[in-house]
Amino acid sequence: MFLGIDVGTGGTRAVLVDRAGRVVGSCAAEHAGIRSERIGWAEQYPEDWWRAAQQAVQGVLAGGAGQVEAVGLTGQMHGCVMLDADGRVLRPALIWCDQRTQPQCDWLTETIGFERLIELTCNPALPNFTLTKLLWVREHEPEVFGKIAHVLCPKDYVRYRMTGEFAMDMQEASGTLLLDVTHRQWSAEVAEAAGIPMGWLPRLFEGPEICARIDEAGAKATGLTVGTPVAAGAGDQGAGAVGMGILAPGSVSATIGTSGVVFAATDKPTKDRLGRLHTFCHAAPGVWHVMGVTNGAGLSLRWLRDTFAGGAGYEELTAEAARVAAGSDGMLWAPYLFGERTPHLDASARAAFVGITASHGRGHFVRAVMEGVAYSLKDTLTLFGELGIPVESIRLGGGGARGALWRQIQADVYGQSVELLEAEEGGAFGAALLAGTGVGAWPSVEAACAATVRVAEVIAVNDAAAMEAGYGVYRRIYPALKMIQGG
Ligand code: XUL
Repeated sequence: MFLGIDVGTGGTRAVLVDRAGRVVGSCAAEHAGIRSERIGWAEQYPEDWWRAAQQAVQGVLAGGAGQVEAVGLTGQMHGCVMLDADGRVLRPALIWCDQRTQPQCDWLTETIGFERLIELTCNPALPNFTLTKLLWVREHEPEVFGKIAHVLCPKDYVRYRMTGEFAMDMQEASGTLLLDVTHRQWSAEVAEAAGIPMGWLPRLFEGPEICARIDEAGAKATGLTVGTPVAAGAGDQGAGAVGMGILAPGSVSATIGTSGVVFAATDKPTKDRLGRLHTFCHAAPGVWHVMGVTNGAGLSLRWLRDTFAGGAGYEELTAEAARVAAGSDGMLWAPYLFGERTPHLDASARAAFVGITASHGRGHFVRAVMEGVAYSLKDTLTLFGELGIPVESIRLGGGGARGALWRQIQADVYGQSVELLEAEEGGAFGAALLAGTGVGAWPSVEAACAATVRVAEVIAVNDAAAMEAGYGVYRRIYPALKMIQGG
C-alpha cells in the first residue's frame, strides 16, 4: 500500500493506493484559507499545512487499509517557505498565486538578462516563481531575510516535519527559478547573480527516489511507522501528470482546476525563446515537460456563480448553458481574472465579456465562460504547434473532466477527441505511484502508469466549426483589451 499526500491550496488530501492502482482510502482536511493583506498578495501558514497533513494522514490510516510501504508527497508549487537555522518558520509563506513580485522579476531579468535566464533555467522571471518571492523579502523584510537558513516549497515543509530532512524533487525545483532545468541541478550562476546562498537550498532528488524516512516525531504526529520510506514526489502538476499517464512525447493532458494547465511530456527540455510556456523537469528521471497555465480557469466559473448566480449551483447553471448553441450566440469570455500566464505573461491583464446583446441570458454567460476557458487552454496547444511539440492524445483532468458539457466543449475547441480516465485522482494518486516506484513495486514510473492508468471513455469532436470561428475572435480580444486598458 502506498500513501500519496497532496498539500494543495484549499486543503491537504491523503490517498492510499494498492499495487493494482486501486484507491483504497482517502481523507482530506481543509486549510485555513489564503491570507491577503493587500490586493495581489497571497500567503499561507506552513504550520496549518502540517496540521491538515496530520489530520488527513491520521484519517486515512484510521480506515485500516493495511501497512503503508512508502509515502510520496505532492502539493501546490512555487510557494516560498523560509526557515531559520533551527528549522523554525520565519514568516507566512508567499504562495504560488501571490502577484506582488513584478518589480523583483524586472530586476532579475535586468540583472541576468532575459535570454540568459531562459538559457540557464529554461524559464523567464514570473511573480509565481519562488526566487522572486525571496527577493521581495530581502527588499522589504531584511530582518527576516537575515535569519533565513533553509528555503522549501510547501510539500517539502511537510516532508521536513515528518522526517527532519530538507529535500526537493527536480520537478518542484524547476518552479523555483533556481534550477538548471537542462542539467537537473541547482544553478550556481542564478543563485549567485540573485544573491541567494546555495546552502539554503535543499538536496535534490528525482521524483521516485527515496530521500527520507519517517522519524519518531513524524510517526507520533501522523500514525505512520518510524522508518517508512518517503519518495521525493513532485509538484501538483508533475504528480498529476504521472497519475494521468502523461510521460511520453505526444501524450498531453488538459486539466481545469482553479487554474487550467495543458501539459506535455518531452524527451528533452523544449524551451520557448519568449518564455510563454513553463519548461520543467518531469517527475520521472530523463523526462522533461512543458506546460501552459491559465490562471483563472475553474476560478472563472466559480467567480460567475458566486458573484451573479443568486444561489444557483453548478448543476443548474450548466444545465442552462447546455441549452445554448456552441459559440454562445457570439458572446465571449476572456478569463484574465488573475492576470494571465500563458501566452501573455501579463500579471496586469484583466478579464472581459465581449459581445453581449439583450437576447443573451444567464446560460449564455455560463457557456461563454466555459468556452473562454477552453479557448485559453487552446492558446497553449497553439504554442505547442508553433514549437513543434507533438500532441497525439489529450487526456482531461480536474473539474473540467467531470461534467459532460465542459468535456464536449473541450473536444470541440481543441478540434480533437479527448480521453477520460477510469480514475482521475489528481496529484495524490501520482505521488503514491512515485512512492511505489521508489520501493520497487514497479521498475519505473512509466511501468507504474502502464499498470495502473486506464482510459475509460473517448469523447469525439461534435461541432468544431463554431468553436474554430469563436477562437479566431477570442485571439483578438487580448490585444484589444490591452489597447483600451493600457499597461
Ligand atoms: C503551477 C501552479 C499551480 C500551483 C497550484 O505552475 O502554479 O498549479 O501548483 O496548484
